[in-house]
Amino acid sequence: MTAPALEPIRSLIAGDMAEVDALIRRRLDSDVVLIRQVAEYIIGSGGKRLRPALLLLAAGAVDYAGRDHFELAAVVEFIHTATLLHDDVVDESELRRGRSTANAAFGNAASVLVGDFLYSRAFQMMVGVQNMRVMEVLADATNTIAEGEVLQLLNVGNAEVDEAAYLEVIRRKTAKLFEAAARLGGIIGGAPAAVERGLADYGTHVGTAFQLMDDVLDYSGNLEEIGKNLGDDLSEGKPTLPLIHVMKTGSPAQAALVRRVIEEGGREEFEHVLAAIRETGALEYAKAQATREAAVARAAIAGLPHSVYSESLLNLASFAADRTF
Ligand code: IPE
Ligand code: IPE
Ligand code: MG
Ligand code: MG
Repeated sequence: MTAPALEPIRSLIAGDMAEVDALIRRRLDSDVVLIRQVAEYIIGSGGKRLRPALLLLAAGAVDYAGRDHFELAAVVEFIHTATLLHDDVVDESELRRGRSTANAAFGNAASVLVGDFLYSRAFQMMVGVQNMRVMEVLADATNTIAEGEVLQLLNVGNAEVDEAAYLEVIRRKTAKLFEAAARLGGIIGGAPAAVERGLADYGTHVGTAFQLMDDVLDYSGNLEEIGKNLGDDLSEGKPTLPLIHVMKTGSPAQAALVRRVIEEGGREEFEHVLAAIRETGALEYAKAQATREAAVARAAIAGLPHSVYSESLLNLASFAADRTF
């Protein structure tokens, strides 16, 4: 499946997403002008809104009929946005969603502090839903994401990181929020425990596929499509799966090159590293892992009654593994 597969999903939930967007705008309100400026700068620049989409679709798949899914969809997008503001400071990234990152435009301090505002606003909003399970899931997810980002920080510059350690990081930093989004749809819809667990597993594996592809696109994406600079991961010395695969299967010279660049960082060797990645089939390998994760995700919700929503969840899993943006 190719990227346009997102369009039917988007049109299915267009009405719901408009409600979520309106809510996002309302909840950004603060009398501190810089908060509004920075928050609107990053939120207004778009983004795929995948996590809210997952939550809305999961709620639809279990026939939820209330309005809390709008609030919670906004909550997961706020948490996501907060992590992006912080992540771009940590990664020293300069481009996001096709424009300068908030840290490049407003500085590191403003990005970190407005990220904190968004996190805490998300918590104010989730308390309003008055459901202890919802708060538990989101508090745990947020904490796990922070652990993932710190674990990743510890791995920077470490060429010994293997595939299992890499997967552990991406499950925490990225898959956890997808898991929470899908699970919350089940929780507010009053789904039986087994269905809720299926949705949660679905989210975990979609999120893993999604990050595997993000790490592929960091070497092979089209700048216009992904709206981010290529080579950010290499420049930082981040041991992602394409590099891990070269060190494991490449020639001694290819492995030594990658090891050195992970340890030293920098963009100078990007072309040489890319050649080693191509020669060892590292991107195909990583993509195959994403495809496998997407299949596991689909299997996890195979028991849902058939509907336009369950169908869209299946398609969203395929998108995560096939995406070019
Ligand atoms: C970027 O997420 C961060 C990752 C987990 C890879 P998205 O690719 O979902 O970012 P936006 O919201 O669409 O810009
Ligand atoms: C995603 O990892 C980090 C978060 C979960 C916030 P990346 O560092 O690869 O994300 P991008 O590439 O900057 O969007
Ligand atoms: Mg980053
Ligand atoms: Mg990335």
